[in-house]
Formats: sequence, C-alpha cells, structure tokens
Amino acid sequence: MITIVGAGSTTGAALIPMLLEETDVQLQLISSRPLEYDHDRVQMHIVNVRDKNALKQSIMSAMPNVIINLAAMTNVDRCETERQMAWDLNVTLVENLSRISRVLDAKMVHISTDYVFDGTKGPYTETAVPNPINYYGKSKLAGENICVSGNTNSLIIRTNVIYGPPRERPDFVRWVLDALDADTPIRVVDDQIGNPTYVDDLAEAIMRLGMSRRTGIYHVGGSDFLSRYDFALKVAEFFKLDPGVIRRVSTSELAQTAKRPLKLGLVSLKAETDLRMKMRGVESGLTSIRQYLVRNRDSL
Ligand SMILES: NC(=O)c1ccc[n+]([C@@H]2O[C@H](COP(=O)([O-])OP(=O)(O)OC[C@H]3O[C@@H](n4cnc5c(N)ncnc54)[C@H](OP(=O)(O)O)[C@@H]3O)[C@@H](O)[C@H]2O)c1
Repeated sequence: MITIVGAGSTTGAALIPMLLEETDVQLQLISSRPLEYDHDRVQMHIVNVRDKNALKQSIMSAMPNVIINLAAMTNVDRCETERQMAWDLNVTLVENLSRISRVLDAKMVHISTDYVFDGTKGPYTETAVPNPINYYGKSKLAGENICVSGNTNSLIIRTNVIYGPPRERPDFVRWVLDALDADTPIRVVDDQIGNPTYVDDLAEAIMRLGMSRRTGIYHVGGSDFLSRYDFALKVAEFFKLDPGVIRRVSTSELAQTAKRPLKLGLVSLKAETDLRMKMRGVESGLTSIRQYLVRNRDSL
C-alpha cells in the first residue's frame, strides 16, 4: 500500500495514473477534496492534513509501507506573508507524517525544492549546502531536516519549475500560452535560472525511487538550464505563436514580496545514473505537451 498525501497536487495528477498503470500496488489518496480516480486499487480519503489526529487515523487505517508527501504551500509570496500556514504545511505536516511513517515502519518520500539554496552558484548537486533566502525556502528546508531526523528510511527529492500538460493549477507554460493566446503582455524575468522539470519525469523518479530501497537526497530537474525569459520564448517559438507580448524584466524590477534566488538549477546526475533515466529537455517536454493536447483535443 502506498499513501499519497496532497494527491490533488500537480505532481499527483501525473504520479497517480503512472502508479496505477505501471505497478500493482494499492493506493490510499489523501486530499482536501474528492478526486476522480474510479479504480478498484484506489481508496480515497478526504482529510484536513492540518488535523493531526484525523491524518493519523486515516493513514493508520491503510497501513502503507510507503508514504509520499506532495502536499505543500507552494506559493512563494504567500509563504512570506502567511507564515503560520506555510509552517503548518511545509514543516508540521512533514513532522507528523514522519512520525506516522516511523511507527508503521514505512518509507517516507518527501518532495522539496531548489529554493533551499541561495541562488548564488547554481546548478546545485545533492552535497551543496542549503542557505534559503525566503520563507518558502526556509520552511521547505526545515521540512527536509525534520523528515531526515524523524525517519532514517526517508527519501527527499528536490525539484524545480514543474511543467506539463494542462491541469487545474496553471504552471509556467500554461501561463505563457494563455498570455500569448489572449495577446496579454506578461513580464518575464531574465535573471532567474533553473532547469524546468517535466512532471512525468518527476513522477517517474518519485515512483521508482520511492519503491526502491534508496534513501537520502536526490535532485530531479530537466536537462536544459535557462532563464524564465528564454523558457517563455521557447514556448512561443515551439507553438509558433508571436512572442511580442513577452516583456523582458529583471527580478529587481518585479519587486515581488519574497526575495528570489537567481542562479538555481539542480544537477540530476545521481538520479539519472541510479535510475538509468534521462530527464527531458524543454524541447522534448513541449513535444510531450503537444502530443497530450492533440490526443485530448476533444475533451479540452
Ligand atoms: N510546482 C513547482 O514548480 C515546484 C518546484 C519545486 C518544488 N516543488 C515541490 O513539489 C511538491 C509538489 O508540488 P506541486 O506543484 O505538485 O504542488 P501543488 O500543485 O501546489 O499542490 C500542493 C497540494 O498541497 C495541498 N495543499 C496546499 N495548500 C493546502 C492547504 N492550505 N490545506 C490543505 N492542503 C493544501 C493540496 O493537496 P490536495 O489538493 O490533495 O488537498 C495541493 O494540491 C511540493 O512539495 C513543492 O514544494 C514544486
């Protein structure tokens, strides 16, 4: 049995079908809302993950041997202003899950971010020393620490700039495509560097590392390192749309609530070597999105 907490997340939408297709495991899905997985190997549990006792009862009833935590407060600016909520979701929840996993002797798989680094000398390997510069990064690092100290059988996967086929919550690619479609000007930073991660590659890494005996930290990011501005231009070019509405700005010009690390990105060599898998670059990720759009054109 695998329990997935935050099953309604963007990552969950890629991971759950993959687990159902490629394995024979039973899944317990924990979410704040009902999710449409009509499958005999799925148990759906609606739980407020901030309610420690409800969470414990629900997971104890399923007795999983792996717990995957995808729930988090991911809005970087909101984390800066709504610190209690950020701490509850990014730290206290991880602490509670870690404790439950230890009691059940289950493996704990937790997803983290390159925002644990300060962005002065990316891309970063797993051995680089974290130094977060905003509250989201600080809370995610605290979550990592509590996960590692709470259960020796734990795995942390750090990722960055997740994108994929259209889902409920728009990602960077969707945001750019919507702007290009509507001819709405968008300001995109040219000094924040990362390696965008195609969500299916992240899901595959979570599934395979999660079901293996591997523990510790793994970085999972795409094979292209580029700025958000260059990524936006690539989206326009790939879908043959006019890039005229994409305005180039610097991070300081945007004056966002939370400070942003600039030179980020994650070296994924360890994951690629251990899993014998190659993470997609941007061109290949956008090709996968186009294939998805063509396959689902009637339902979109
Ligand atoms: N998105 C990125 O670009 C990115 C980059 C680096 C790292 N990460 C990390 O990757 C992981 C997955 O990210 P994601 O983008 O797939 O997540 P996401 O789409 O933002 O979803 C997070 C999930 O957390 C739960 N959640 C959020 N706020 C909540 C609240 N107030 N109360 C209860 N539950 C709440 C919800 O689960 P339910 O819908 O099931 O209730 C939500 O769907 C996170 O740990 C994130 O920090 C993401």
